[in-house]
Amino acid sequence: DDVHIADFPDRASMMEVRLQAQDDEITLLKSSLADALRRIRLHDQLLPLLKQQTRKMKEEGKPRTPTSAPAPARCPPSRKERRNQQSIKMFIRGRPITMYIPSNIQNYEDLKMEPPPERLELDWVYGYRGRDCRANLYFLPTGEALFFIACVVVLYHINNRTQRHYHKHTDCVRCLTVHPDKVRVASGQTAGVDKDGKPLQPCVHIWDSTTLVTLQQIGLGSFQRGVGSVAFSFAVTFLCVIDDSNEHMLSVWDCNKGTKHAEVKSTNEAVFAVEFNSSDSTNIITCGKSHVYFWTLSAGQFTKKQGIFGKYKKPKFMQCFVFSLTGDVLTGDSEGNILTWGKSAADVKTLGKGAKETFQIMRQTRAHEGSVFTLCALQGGTLLSGGGKDRKIIRWSADLAPERECEIPENYGAVRTIADVDGEELLVGTTRNAILRGTFSDGFVAIVQGHVDEMWGLATHPSQNIFLTCGHDRQVCLWNTEEHMLDWCISLEDYGLCADFCPNGSVVSVGLSTGRWMVLDLLTKEVVSESIDGNEQLSVMRYSPDGSFLAVGSHDNFIYIYNVTESGRRYTRFGKCNGHSSFITHLDWAKDGKYIMSNSGDYEILYWDIVAGCKLLRNRFESKDREWASYTCVLGFHVMGVWLEGSDGTDINALCRSHSERMVAVADDFCKVHLFQYPCPKPKAPSHKYEGHGSHVTNVCFTHNDSHLLSMGGKDTCILQWKVIGGGAGDSRERLASASSASTSSPEPASS
Ligand SMILES: *[C@@H]1O[C@H](CO)[C@@H](O)[C@H](O)[C@H]1NC(C)=O
Ligand SMILES: *[C@@H]1O[C@H](CO)[C@@H](O)[C@H](O)[C@H]1NC(C)=O
Ligand SMILES: *[C@@H]1O[C@H](CO)[C@@H](O)[C@H](O)[C@H]1NC(C)=O
Ligand SMILES: *[C@@H]1O[C@H](CO)[C@@H](O)[C@H](O)[C@H]1NC(C)=O
Ligand SMILES: *[C@@H]1O[C@H](CO)[C@@H](O)[C@H](O)[C@H]1NC(C)=O
Repeated sequence: DDVHIADFPDRASMMEVRLQAQDDEITLLKSSLADALRRIRLHDQLLPLLKQQTRKMKEEGKPRTPTSAPAPARCPPSRKERRNQQSIKMFIRGRPITMYIPSNIQNYEDLKMEPPPERLELDWVYGYRGRDCRANLYFLPTGEALFFIACVVVLYHINNRTQRHYHKHTDCVRCLTVHPDKVRVASGQTAGVDKDGKPLQPCVHIWDSTTLVTLQQIGLGSFQRGVGSVAFSFAVTFLCVIDDSNEHMLSVWDCNKGTKHAEVKSTNEAVFAVEFNSSDSTNIITCGKSHVYFWTLSAGQFTKKQGIFGKYKKPKFMQCFVFSLTGDVLTGDSEGNILTWGKSAADVKTLGKGAKETFQIMRQTRAHEGSVFTLCALQGGTLLSGGGKDRKIIRWSADLAPERECEIPENYGAVRTIADVDGEELLVGTTRNAILRGTFSDGFVAIVQGHVDEMWGLATHPSQNIFLTCGHDRQVCLWNTEEHMLDWCISLEDYGLCADFCPNGSVVSVGLSTGRWMVLDLLTKEVVSESIDGNEQLSVMRYSPDGSFLAVGSHDNFIYIYNVTESGRRYTRFGKCNGHSSFITHLDWAKDGKYIMSNSGDYEILYWDIVAGCKLLRNRFESKDREWASYTCVLGFHVMGVWLEGSDGTDINALCRSHSERMVAVADDFCKVHLFQYPCPKPKAPSHKYEGHGSHVTNVCFTHNDSHLLSMGGKDTCILQWKVIGGGAGDSRERLASASSASTSSPEPASS
């Protein structure tokens, strides 16, 4: 039962933060050690030379003067000197990284950084958060399915296959409800943390689903950690909210004014659902771990009555509930039962005169193997129940006789939630992040699919509108950006972390967590080649521009190079790049297909001559003018400006230059996607920033003709497709040329 995961989000995230901090510390120590070792080696090599030189100087009896002595210090340096500046240092974690300035940039100091003329517009959202959220799928009269993933609420027209997005949340959406008017929507989000780890304030947004206009923002400063459940009242416009604090505060708000009406601690146990009584807005029901509570609100005060289990075994979890036609509450529980609750008159005889009415179980109906995850009341009193383990959907008559049942395919997981389309057709949200559409007679097909665990691998096809993703769920999926659909998905034994399409476009290679990598045929999905390099995870796969080499970057600090023949079907080991003192993080091929630029976990930038036998080029200065077929290295002269000041080196997970070489998209560790101008060689360069992901963004990639950008939010299991808009005139070389000819010195650009 995945309930437990949802119970301890904070503990887990705290431990994650601590683990990350330790990881960072280890990386830093490793890099310091490598640095020290390098210095010792250098020292060892230089010592004999120095001794020799000292001896020679003594013999000559005068200090040696270099032939090209530097001019005596003069401040400030003249413009001419600045024009001849050859390198610039950037600092990551206090470590200087020298960047050599390409010779086509004559006046680095005068370069002016501006945000690019292009912008991004959210175009499509892939995925649905069914894994660990409940009651989060609705069907609107507009013909749209309403659900969420990451920070975005999606309105997906199930016939037209179009999407609209409510995009105003600042962190992950956790719960959702629709007003009885079928227009207003309330969605609640988690608190999240800002860039410096400070907690932000969770809130609920009330918005209009026809116009997407925010009507009210409720509870800023009132909720702790996040918002777990929300419900609208039927008659009067109240909103009931349960937050994620230890006490699970239950509060009732006036939707129109945005003011709090009443508040009470509900329970220290997990709470899963809340609803108003449909015919009495002073009545609220909540359920969760081993409880169902019946609340009455009167004069701003709550009174609570516990549902009494009596002779029935108390289930571990009360997962969900609905109201029957007669106003009774029906609960679904972890024992697989539907319990019918009824109000019993006060037992004055045994309990005395002051005794009050009680809520007791009137009937127990066996429904599912494992949990009843969801209940859905249809018109006319019919009921649907969904199994959290048996993957069954059962239709019940108003008097709880089973009428129909069906089972959803295993690969979609179990039933998370059900939404009624027209009494016949249903939408089913599943625990493996899929949404299915169908009927009892015709069965169900997926209309929304997604990954179910952290993702890192992303690659776009060289000439078609398709892309590939892979992640910790061991799935490799091929998607179509035009159809907005999954083409296919296969399961591997190990999980994939990186991928690249062969320039020929008929195969794709995927690097796995064990050092194994495989090449898949796009049409047949068959493995056409397979190999293993080292026994650590692979972090990057990259074909040379003409497809004749494949570079495989590993966490064992090596880059393995393969000859590729038969259009990506045959691979023979050519060599190994040995020289990095930490794991390989990123690499790119030169346009001529002969050289590689690579980054590692300790912030090294190294250059390699591949055809000369994977030779490390010790003089980095000599590679300053090389042109790169792709630019994904996060450390390099051309992308220096994407880093924040004082960065710890893990703030940027990935970046990607557009094919036009006019812009660079950046995936950061704070849930954001940035768009910078390319080249971007000056610190504090301004960018356009885009929100939507609810987790560290692990990868970004432009489609083959730069019409779209894809971004992936590791743990939020969400893929966002952004449309690139604007731009048009000029190319990067023109921009650089015009910057070079600018004679006025530029002020420090302000970050946008
Ligand atoms: C769906 O398609 C129909 C027919 O083309 C159109 O009239 C309607 O406006 C569309 N609705 C949405 C929400 O896109
Ligand atoms: C809901 O309200 C109706 C009308 O007041 C009442 O008859 C019914 O018992 C209530 N249900 C619960 C579960 O309190
Ligand atoms: C691999 O590529 C290199 C450089 O192009 C070439 O010299 C060598 O013969 C190739 N090896 C094989 C086995 O194809
Ligand atoms: C890729 O290679 C295959 C096999 O050699 C060939 O059939 C196909 O036409 C090539 N595709 C492209 C786009 O060059
Ligand atoms: C890119 O390709 C898409 C789909 O094939 C096409 O609609 C679009 O016009 C192209 N965009 C550019 C900038 O070439």
